[in-house]
Amino acid sequence: MSPDGGVAVCPGSYDPVTNGHVDIIARAARVFDRVVVGVVDQPVRKSKTLFSAQERRAFLLQATQKVPNVEIDVFDTLLVDFARKHGARALVKGLRAISDFEYEFEMNQLNRKLAPDIESVYLMASPEYSFLSSSGVRELATFGADIKDLVPNGVAQALHDRLSRDSG
Ligand SMILES: Nc1ncnc2c1ncn2[C@@H]1O[C@H](COP(=O)(O)OP(=O)(O)OP(=O)(O)O)[C@@H](O)[C@H]1O
Ligand SMILES: [Mg+2]
Repeated sequence: MSPDGGVAVCPGSYDPVTNGHVDIIARAARVFDRVVVGVVDQPVRKSKTLFSAQERRAFLLQATQKVPNVEIDVFDTLLVDFARKHGARALVKGLRAISDFEYEFEMNQLNRKLAPDIESVYLMASPEYSFLSSSGVRELATFGADIKDLVPNGVAQALHDRLSRDSG
C-alpha cells in the first residue's frame, strides 16, 4: 500500500448501523483518503434484513454526515468487484471477538484468491463497542430494552417502529 492513502471499502449489512460501525468507519476515514461504505443488498449468509437497503443506506448517511470523506453505496455483486468499481485498494473490517476472526479469516482467503491486489485491513474494535452488533441490538430492541446509547440518532426509534409494526 502506498503511503498516500487511497480508497477503502467498509462492507457490511448494517441492519441497522450501530455506534460500533460508525467508530470503524470514522477511524478508516482517518487512514484512507476516501472510504466507501458498502451496504450489502441481500446478505447471503443471513436471513432477510429487517430494513431495506435504501433504509440502511439512509441511516448510514445520517450517521456519517460529519465525516467528509465517506460515501455510502449499496451493492449486490461480489465484494471485490464492488471494490474495483470504486478503485479501492483495501477492504476494511472491524474485529470484535474470536468469532469475528474465524469468519474473517475464511473471507480473507477467498477474497485474496479472487483479488490478490486488494488488501484486507482489520481494525480492532474499540473497547466500548467490542460487545456491540446489529443482531444484538435487534434482539435487545425486540424485548423492549433501551438501545439509544448503542445506535446513532434516529435508529432506535426506527427500530422500535419497525419491530412493533412487524409484530402487530
Ligand atoms: N462494534 C463493532 N466494533 C468493531 N467492528 C464492528 C462492530 N460491529 C460490526 N463491526 C464490523 O463491521 C463490519 C460490518 O458488520 P455487520 O454488518 O455484519 O455488522 P454486525 O454488527 O456484525 O451485524 P450482525 O450482527 O447482523 O452480523 C464487519 O467488519 C464487522 O466486524
Ligand atoms: Mg456480523
